Amino acid sequence: MGIVGKSAIVTGGASGIGEAAARLLAAEGVSVVVADLNAEGAATVAESITADGGEATHFELNVAEMREAEECVELAIEQYGEVSILVNNAGVVRDTLLPMMTREQWDLVLDVNLGGCFNMARACTRPMMQKRFGRIINTSSVAGRFGGRGQANYAASKAGIDALTRVLAMELSSKKRNITVNAVAPGMIVTPLSEQVRSLTDDKIVDLVPLERYGTPEDVANAIRFLASEEGSYINGQVIVVDGGLSLGVKW
Ligand SMILES: NC(=O)c1ccc[n+]([C@@H]2O[C@H](COP(=O)([O-])OP(=O)(O)OC[C@H]3O[C@@H](n4cnc5c(N)ncnc54)[C@H](O)[C@@H]3O)[C@@H](O)[C@H]2O)c1
Repeated sequence: MGIVGKSAIVTGGASGIGEAAARLLAAEGVSVVVADLNAEGAATVAESITADGGEATHFELNVAEMREAEECVELAIEQYGEVSILVNNAGVVRDTLLPMMTREQWDLVLDVNLGGCFNMARACTRPMMQKRFGRIINTSSVAGRFGGRGQANYAASKAGIDALTRVLAMELSSKKRNITVNAVAPGMIVTPLSEQVRSLTDDKIVDLVPLERYGTPEDVANAIRFLASEEGSYINGQVIVVDGGLSLGVKW
């Protein structure tokens, strides 16, 4: 897919969508930094990619910390000579209705989900401009467009990611730079993060999905891989929904 030999940072790479993206990119011949707050999980994923014949290393990262974001990019450059692909995927939920939502819950979700994308994109910008190649793929959510009860913090963070994606595409792209910035917006994907919502709703959300199944991490990772590839090089500033049709909102 034209990305063999390039290197990628995948945040939130220890689990779910990030893990699947790290594995798919590595299978394309991309060297991957699996970056996650969960250092042990990130190391396990990196070791498993290496055992499968890929190239990967891990980095303990809190995306909400600017300095750690910069150190992660420094590691990628030290280890692989460049950073071409950034999968800004780390995310958290702290769902609760507005009257019960604490300022700490609001701040954490905004700092990690949206602030993390800002920190990592900012740290990658100069290296990508110098190399004249870059693919930034942010993980948004359909909640950013449609909201969700109990998700004031989460939906706001994801709507912010959509806006950030468009602005960065305008700022960073040019023929010379060859940088694109896009987002994927998953629907209901089976990962630890969605466990609470799936169980609170007795798994009834699946009835709203025209494809009649929840998504897998690989369903989303496939879109991420495409946006990172040469084939996806004319897609820019877009939020690609990967939800099996859930957001169409009707089914009969
Ligand atoms: N699962 C879904 O249904 C769904 C739907 C829409 C969007 N998303 C988004 O997809 C992304 C990945 O989520 P997932 O479903 O794979 O969840 P997950 O819980 O399986 O993975 C999230 C990873 O992010 C890591 N992480 C959390 N805080 C971090 C921080 N401060 N710094 C670095 N890493 C951190 C976690 O340790 C974990 O490994 C998130 O941005 C999430 O909002 C998920």
